[in-house]
Amino acid sequence: MEQRFVKESRTYKTSRIFPTDVNNHNTLFGGKLMAYIDDIASISASKHCRRSVVTASTDSVDFLSPIRPTDSVCLESFVTWTGKSSMEVFVKVITEDLKTGERTIAATSFLTFVALDENKRPVQVPQVIPETEEERRLNATGTRRAEMRKTRREQSKEFSDHLITRFPWE
Ligand SMILES: CC(C)(COP(=O)(O)OP(=O)(O)OC[C@H]1O[C@@H](n2cnc3c(N)ncnc32)[C@H](O)[C@@H]1OP(=O)(O)O)[C@@H](O)C(=O)NCCC(=O)NCCS
Repeated sequence: MEQRFVKESRTYKTSRIFPTDVNNHNTLFGGKLMAYIDDIASISASKHCRRSVVTASTDSVDFLSPIRPTDSVCLESFVTWTGKSSMEVFVKVITEDLKTGERTIAATSFLTFVALDENKRPVQVPQVIPETEEERRLNATGTRRAEMRKTRREQSKEFSDHLITRFPWE
């Protein structure tokens, strides 16, 4: 089976925080950061499999500390674990105070992408090979997170089967 190193999907994006990016606390709006996360993670997934990919789930986004207009925000993302057609991507958000240079882990996120073939059907992806200690730790814990996703997917399906599609004004 084809294999790719984690480093082959590693992607970085650094941005400033502009006035249009902040919420009423004058810190980065969470929705803006989530858009950055989905964007960079999809690039990592595409680099890993060199196929079309779709976001199957955003498994978690943990906002650990506020991001201020005086910070730069750097996102780092890479594929940590692979199933058959699915890829788990980890995104680490690091802020840097541009005056002092102090760095903080501001958020972390796990997402799952699925590779699609020309007919938009899920298709096998290369296995991922971790090398660094951080990559090995994330890879080793990937199977447990995949099991949790499977359980959540089943629960979510069961839950949505009982939801109505009628709008309140109808
Ligand atoms: C994701 C999607 C392609 C899966 O298709 P499917 O027909 O359900 O495919 P399968 O049941 O065969 O699952 C294929 C893989 O996706 C994984 N998967 C499916 N739904 C998932 C979910 N909600 N979370 C995590 N993984 C999921 C399965 O575990 C499986 O992984 P594996 O091949 O590594 O074992 C399909 O549900 C889809 O197109 N969803 C919409 C995606 C989208 O529009 N994203 C943009 C959001 S705006």
